[in-house]
Parts: sequence; structure tokens; C-alpha cells
Amino acid sequence: MGQAHVIVVGNEKGGTGKSTLSMHILVALLYRGLSVGSIDVDARQGTLTRYLENRRARDQKGDLGLPSSEHRSIPPSADAQADAARLLETIAELRDRHDVVVIDTPGSDNALSRLAHSYAQTLVTPLNDSLIDLDVLAHVEPETMRIARPSQYAELVWDTKKQRALRGERAVVDWIVVRNRLSSLDARNKRDMEKLLSDLAQRIGFRLVPGLGERVIYRSLFLDGLTLLDLRNSLLGFQLSMSHLTARQELRGLVDALNLDIQGAVVPAE
Ligand SMILES: Nc1ncnc2c1ncn2[C@@H]1O[C@H](COP(=O)(O)OP(=O)(O)OP(=O)(O)O)[C@@H](O)[C@H]1O
Ligand SMILES: [Mg+2]
Repeated sequence: MGQAHVIVVGNEKGGTGKSTLSMHILVALLYRGLSVGSIDVDARQGTLTRYLENRRARDQKGDLGLPSSEHRSIPPSADAQADAARLLETIAELRDRHDVVVIDTPGSDNALSRLAHSYAQTLVTPLNDSLIDLDVLAHVEPETMRIARPSQYAELVWDTKKQRALRGERAVVDWIVVRNRLSSLDARNKRDMEKLLSDLAQRIGFRLVPGLGERVIYRSLFLDGLTLLDLRNSLLGFQLSMSHLTARQELRGLVDALNLDIQGAVVPAE
């Protein structure tokens, strides 16, 4: 396989922002001068695929010069083995040609998603700031508000690291948990989550990076195939607000925190 760094965005929980984050991470890396391949392993839903199609359509309409990734989706067929082979081929092909490969995965457990996870060098897990979302990572004892034990997604990550080690590859995965859709309300819940997540980080081996706030803008960008990073004042129909700038700053913080040490990366002029 080639040298591209593989970033998998995953969480065994629907609607935590995996596809939105996949899109924003890949566009951020493109603006940093990296060439990027992307794979939609959640092809049944196809959010990332459609997001990128919308981007191509938007780009053809205007003169924005929107950078894009070389994208593949892996639709599930009746033949699970053939699907797995196709995913491996696709990863190998894109790794040969690009600096980074970003893989979006479904919010549920399946063999293809596990296989994709086993190729992660960086695993990014977005998590809504709620104890319900935390439950897929760890069970919490209600009386003491302590972590009782790691739960299903933590186990999936552990299993896929083993899968990778069995292939004779380095099993070290930089696992990053990002709290998404943070709101300034409910300070108590926020404090509880912070404490629980930092306990858990040590136990199951992830890094917590600064989170992303709840911003309506994320929802309105999808149909145009745009990300926060494409928005300029000159862009028709968008007025850059303070909230957008803050959101962009948060995103930049996240991408910096990935600590990708890749040759050829260019820091963009703002
Ligand atoms: N920071 C945010 N602020 C506001 N809305 C957000 C934010 N992040 C994601 N969303 C919205 O949350 C919804 C779910 O996001 P997304 O589709 O990216 O999640 P997902 O984890 O990929 O879901 P699934 O598991 O179904 O694939 C979308 O409507 C998206 O626009
Ligand atoms: Mg998704």
C-alpha cells in the first residue's frame, strides 16, 4: 500500500456529525495543500457522497474554484466478501495517489465499517455532548457518576486494533474524541461530560480535543456542497458573521489537533 495517512471518522451512534466532520476535515486538508482521497463506507445513506456531488454541481455553476477530493463510495451488495475486497482495493488505490484518505463510516456496527476502522491511523469520533451519546463508549454508574466499564464502540475500536495487529501492522491508532454541537446551556451536563470523558480517555486511550459548537450554518451548507472554509464575504447569499468565524476557528483548532505531520502541507493564507 501507498503512503497516504488514513483518517477514519467513526462512532457507533447515528447523527453525531461524522459525515459533516468528514467533509470539513477533508476540505480543510485540501486548503492546506494536501491531496485527499475520500471513501463513503455508509453508502446506503450516502451523505458524504451526496455532499461531494453537491459540491461538484455548485462548482460548475460558479467560479469559486472549490477544491475537492477523489471520492469513492462502497455500496453494499449481497456478497459481503466482494464488498470487503472492493474496500481494500479502494483504500490501496487512493493511498497510492494521495497524501490523506478520509473515510466516513455508518452510525452502526457492520463488517465493512469494522474493516475500514482497522485501517485507521487516526480515528476521529464526534460525540454529542450528552450522557446518551457517551453510553456507546462507556457505561456510567448513576449513583457515583463514575465510569463503570467501556461499552460497545470502545470494544469495536479495540477489536479493530487487534485485527490490524494480526495483519502485522503497527496497532497504534491516534484516537481522537471531539465533542460536537456544544451549547452554552446546561453547564452541569457539560461539567459531568468533561469529567467522565477525561477519566475515560485515560482508561481506553483516546485524546480529547476542543469541541465544536452548535451552529445552524452547518445544516445550510449541505445542499450547496460547501463547508465553513469555503465561505467568503464575496460569496453570494452568505454573510460571514462572528459566529461563522468562531466556527471556523474551532475547526482549525480541530484540524491542527490532528497533528498530521505530512510533507507538502501548506498553511493557507487567510
Ligand atoms: N456542530 C453542529 N452544529 C449544528 N448542527 C450540526 C453540527 N454538526 C452536525 N450537525 C447536523 O447534525 C445532523 C447530523 O450530522 P451528520 O449527518 O454529519 O451526522 P452523522 O454522524 O454522519 O449521522 P449518521 O450516523 O446518520 O451517518 C445534520 O443535520 C448536521 O447538519
Ligand atoms: Mg453520516
